[in-house]
Amino acid sequence: MAKKSWQSRMSGAVDELAVNFVESISVDWRLYKYDIVGSIAHAQMLSEQGLISKDEFRQIKQGLTEIAEQIEAGKFKFDKSQEDIHMVIEAALTKNIGEAARKLHTGRSRNDQVALDMRLWLRDCTETIIERIMKLQEALVKLAQKQGQVVMPGYTHLQRAQPVLSGHYLLAFAEQLQRDRQRFSDALKRINVCPLGSGALAGSSLPLNRRRVMELLGFAEITRNSIDGISDRDFCAEFVFTAALTAIHLSRLAEDWIIYSTQEFGFIRIGDAYCTGSSMMPQKRNPDMLELIRGKSGQLHGNLTALLTMLKGQPLAYNRDMQEDKKQVFDAADTLEATLAMAAAIVANTRFNPDKIQAGLDEGFLDATALAEYLVRKGVPFRQAHQIVGELVAQCEAEGKSLAQKPLDELQKACDKIEADVYENLTAENVVAGYAVEGSAGKQQLQEQLDFWQEHLKRTVEK
Ligand code: ARG
Repeated sequence: MAKKSWQSRMSGAVDELAVNFVESISVDWRLYKYDIVGSIAHAQMLSEQGLISKDEFRQIKQGLTEIAEQIEAGKFKFDKSQEDIHMVIEAALTKNIGEAARKLHTGRSRNDQVALDMRLWLRDCTETIIERIMKLQEALVKLAQKQGQVVMPGYTHLQRAQPVLSGHYLLAFAEQLQRDRQRFSDALKRINVCPLGSGALAGSSLPLNRRRVMELLGFAEITRNSIDGISDRDFCAEFVFTAALTAIHLSRLAEDWIIYSTQEFGFIRIGDAYCTGSSMMPQKRNPDMLELIRGKSGQLHGNLTALLTMLKGQPLAYNRDMQEDKKQVFDAADTLEATLAMAAAIVANTRFNPDKIQAGLDEGFLDATALAEYLVRKGVPFRQAHQIVGELVAQCEAEGKSLAQKPLDELQKACDKIEADVYENLTAENVVAGYAVEGSAGKQQLQEQLDFWQEHLKRTVEK
């Protein structure tokens, strides 16, 4: 078994059980690119500060670049006895270039090194996720442009409430995702801070130039306090929370669409590629991808709970517990990335069934609230209007009619303020045409939203 860099302090006895228990290379190998980029920047700064020679820096850079190439080509063996990605790479570098490699860790600890790697990894990952959220928003906007004019029931308590345009319904999800994107962008500000130079916890007595490393790695700031610099994992927790909330939004969309694609609803049809059959029932077309989007959201809750619980009892500064952060962060990121891609594909391959939706629109008194508002416009206090319409609904229900099917004289019996123009306010179509307030579920408001999204997504894509 290979000797570790800190081995000289120990008696020499090694228990395989402990070696396997403490290793993180099986998880943190994914940080290799960032570990190498970080080490090259650190070494460059060391040479600029005269702490290592120009030639040593050249050798280190060359050696690290070759290791990166070997890893990319799948030709590198990650040695588990070297514990983690930092020690594996340093050991390989030492083997390859000898003496110069022994100077790389000058003024650095694995504690600030791992914090750096995680920040670099999350910076890239957050950008990928923001892109994917945008792709999903684009798919929603496209569907809203294509089939957004379908008048459909809106629900509260999953009971028919008021009519809405399908485009308005779809763009509600674009809004949720917009907040997710904003949260990720905001998290990026706290991710994009350079901890290198914090050392093990107290910094260093060597003349390191932290701002130079920050600059070389494209960070916006450096951490102000070395203890915080190495013990902070807030940026991980924030990332996982934001990912979990995004997954909840996707889960809610999935739940809706699972319901909407049932025989009973039949509002939408999801592309065949995103459904599966049954091994026993030949007729089945199950929305498994949506169910998995819903199911996988549970994974992200788990990641968040595990991460917060792992952090909770830790004294300052570094503790090995923190090694467990990677599992949660990587897993949350992987699951969210896959889920976002799948959601975008499903949205792009889903169609509304306008005929089926239209056929059921007369049921459920979707126009009841609009009738009450009509009465308000005729001078009836809202509470009284509510009561009048409630009684009319009860009558219609008993008669098996919709409100629009009720003759004028019967309506007028309920309230003498009602005139012939009442029918312009009844039926789901008329109600949607009458929505007057900004942000409502009607045509004009939908157009305003589509204009916003078109402009907004174009701008962010171009940026
Ligand atoms: N693999 C470790 C981690 O992920 C790296 C830091 C180890 N530091 C230490 N002092 N043992 O946290």
